[in-house]
Amino acid sequence: MTRMGVMGLGTMGSGITQAAIESGFEVVAVEVDDAHLSSGASRIRTGLERRVKSGKLSQHQVGGLLSGLNLSTSVSSFADCDIVVEAVFEDASVKAAALSGISGAVGPQTIVASNTSSISITSLSRNLKHPENFIGMHFFNPVPVMKLLEVVRGYLTSDATASAALDIGRRMGKEAVEVRDYPGFISNRVLMPMINEAIFALMEDVAGRDDIDKVMKLGMNHPMGPLELADFIGLDVCLDIMNVLYSGFKDPKYRPCPLLVNMVNSGKTGRKAGAGFYQY
Ligand code: 3HC
Repeated sequence: MTRMGVMGLGTMGSGITQAAIESGFEVVAVEVDDAHLSSGASRIRTGLERRVKSGKLSQHQVGGLLSGLNLSTSVSSFADCDIVVEAVFEDASVKAAALSGISGAVGPQTIVASNTSSISITSLSRNLKHPENFIGMHFFNPVPVMKLLEVVRGYLTSDATASAALDIGRRMGKEAVEVRDYPGFISNRVLMPMINEAIFALMEDVAGRDDIDKVMKLGMNHPMGPLELADFIGLDVCLDIMNVLYSGFKDPKYRPCPLLVNMVNSGKTGRKAGAGFYQY
């Protein structure tokens, strides 16, 4: 049985954990303290309850899946893992510290993956003892539902690591796509400029919030409009990713919209803050 470690039980880490235990993996999830562990565990239980409500799982099965989940506050619990996925806060120095902790805890064969949405895998690999075993595994929110896994090869990632990560993704029921390590990879290089442009259109009063979202929902069949999606992702995350694109390509077409910057500075970062383009 595959033993997966997950570092960080925020939205993405708990989604990855849920998807992994649903796929029959044994998971060791690590958080900084008991309070973060228990809120992560309750997020996972809520996700599994949704499966019960929609008739995809029984209560009995949920109990079985949860027995494959081990919670810990120590990275040493990753010692026997085949793969560890880092899903801590999207900040280069926070990720660097988490990755060097993981690297010190695992064996030389363990694959270490980062769920970063835009930070360079090659630069993060400097924190690993075995950079050839390191790769990006970029999941999408909500992880148990979204089919895509973007597998990002760093400059030093070995072929064996890439094929193992693709295989693990497929065993989690994902369509895994392999991309190279350039700013924003494919997903956020394409998605974020669209969201940023929608915010410019709102700032310039080309149309109102609801109409901008309606155009993309009804005209392009997107499940959410770009402003609603920005709230769902988190406006701070959107701004961070725009800044990665802007500094990575040195191209003004990626400049973050000033309205996005203002909203983040005001604390209106979207759904998680209770307010963004919409109220929650
Ligand atoms: N766990 C388990 N199941 C979940 C879930 C969760 N966390 N969230 C939703 N679901 C399930 C529901 O139970 C429901 O299942 P069912 O069809 O079996 O009943 C199904 O998903 C649909 O959910 P809802 O009926 O509640 O709501 P919607 O039909 O409105 O779908 C949505 C919600 C799936 C979020 C849809 O609006 C959507 O696809 N939105 C776009 C999401 C998106 O673009 N995500 C990517 C963001 S970018 C990213 O993550 C990368 C980063 O780098 C920025």
